[in-house]
Formats: sequence, C-alpha cells, structure tokens
Amino acid sequence: MDAKPAISSAPPDASAEKVISIRGLAKSFADNAVLKGFDLDLRRGENLMVLGKSGSGKSVLIKCIVRLLDADAGSINVLGQDVLGLDQDALDRIRVKIGFLFQSSALYDSMTVQENLEFPLRRHWIAKGAQDTESLVEEVLTAVGLPQTRAMYPSELSGGMKRRIGLARTLILKPEIVLYDEPTTGLDPISGKEIVELILELQRTYGTSSIIISHDLHVAKLAANRIALLHEGRNYLEGTYQDLLASDDPLVKKFFIFM
Ligand SMILES: Nc1ncnc2c1ncn2[C@@H]1O[C@H](COP(=O)(O)OP(=O)(O)OP(=O)(O)O)[C@@H](O)[C@H]1O
Ligand SMILES: [Mg+2]
Repeated sequence: MDAKPAISSAPPDASAEKVISIRGLAKSFADNAVLKGFDLDLRRGENLMVLGKSGSGKSVLIKCIVRLLDADAGSINVLGQDVLGLDQDALDRIRVKIGFLFQSSALYDSMTVQENLEFPLRRHWIAKGAQDTESLVEEVLTAVGLPQTRAMYPSELSGGMKRRIGLARTLILKPEIVLYDEPTTGLDPISGKEIVELILELQRTYGTSSIIISHDLHVAKLAANRIALLHEGRNYLEGTYQDLLASDDPLVKKFFIFM
C-alpha cells in the first residue's frame, strides 16, 4: 500500500444522508444496564468513532446494530430500514451491506486465507452475483496489501496480518457500512497505524461509512471525522478530535491524559 499522509479525510457534509440512526437504545444483561438510551447518527461517507472505557458497552452497541444481540428498547434504522423489526430474510439482506470487523479477527484456523475469504461469498452468493470469486479475492487481498498470502493458514500470519485478512473478508461483500470493533487493539504502533491508513483508504476508495469502536486516541486523531463518547450507557458528547482535545469536561480530559 502507498504511504498516505496521516490525516483524516475531509468530514462529509453535515447534511449528508443518515445511513444509521439510533434512538433511545437500551440493553441490559440481568441487572447490568449497559446501554440506557443511547442516540447516534452515522452520515454517508463518515468515519464516526465511538470512544468509551473498557466495559462501557461499545461492543454491545455494534452487536445490537447487526442484531447479534437483541436490544431491549429503542430504535435502530440502517439504510432506511427499521432493523429491530426485520424478519430473518430482510435481516440477512441488510447484513450483506454491513461489514463487521470483529474485535478478534475470527478467521477459521483450518482454512487457508483464500478459503476464509470465499466463506462469506459462498454464504451470500445469490445476493452478490456478477464478479467471479477469484478476482474478488485478488481485489480484496490487494486492497489490504497482502496479495501473497492466499495459500497461507492463519497460524502462519502475524497479528497485524490476521487483522488485515479479517478486514479483507469484511470487504469482499463490498459493504456500504463497516463497523470496526477495536481495529488496532493488540497491535504494535506501526501495524496499528497501517490499519488506520487502510481504514482511511477504504473510506476514500469505496466511500464506506464507518463506525469505529476504540479507546485508542491515535485512531481518533488520525481516522475519525467525528467522535462520540459513550459513558454510562449514553452518548455523553460528540465532537471532532480537536473539539475533544480542547474540552474542559473532566471526563473528556481523563481520556486525553496521555496525549
Ligand atoms: N453476552 C453477554 N452477556 C452478559 N453480559 C454481557 C454480554 N456481552 C457484554 N456483556 C456485558 O456488557 C458490558 C459491556 O461489554 P462490552 O463488551 O460492550 O464492553 P466494551 O466497551 O466493548 O469493552 P472493551 O473496551 O473492553 O472491549 C460488560 O459489563 C459486559 O460484561
Ligand atoms: Mg469491546
């Protein structure tokens, strides 16, 4: 991949279409109320970061968006559809449009990189049609800068490479929206920065709209057009990296203690 300047791309127009709109989202596990009326809008072409401390409910939030978890209350609209009201068929169709990069890369150890990449295609083949598997695998491996790994097994890849292959597998369905759960956690700073540059490149090349879940402020600085702070189950505040850096709010200051 070409070296790219480490700057966020221009924020999309504030009037751009909302591709995700979340209102009053609530989710509890027994007496553990994790989300308590969370609101969020993602606009087309935007990289929106959700920042929050460990255990604040960031992964729960994105699992609710793709209905890997069932929300207790509230509404989630994705690409004009009320996700919480969809039947299984309609849910499958919308899930094809949403890429989800798991906190762990979640590759199948017994499959080669190529087989791992073909897996979502086989599942959703009817929905996608046209372009052949071989050229799609080639395209996404090139996009993540790992065209030589096709025949390798996950055990032969480094942590950073696995993360990239996980991303390639997300991209193979050409999603309109990508949800990244901790894309840089556990990576060394150089591999982490490469992933951030990849996220920016995907935003530019494919016009992807993304929610990036992280507690890594470098990601916030380099990749986020806008940041929402998830605190005590709510969207505590939103702003650009610069807004948050300049904020006097004691909670925001806590996050910026090392910056
Ligand atoms: N399937 C589940 N069953 C019960 N409790 C859960 C489940 N998933 C998450 N939780 C609880 O929800 C809370 C939020 O978890 P979540 O994984 O969303 O945190 P997070 O903000 O993603 O943290 P981290 O930054 O460490 O990944 C935690 O208290 C967790 O124990
Ligand atoms: Mg998490």
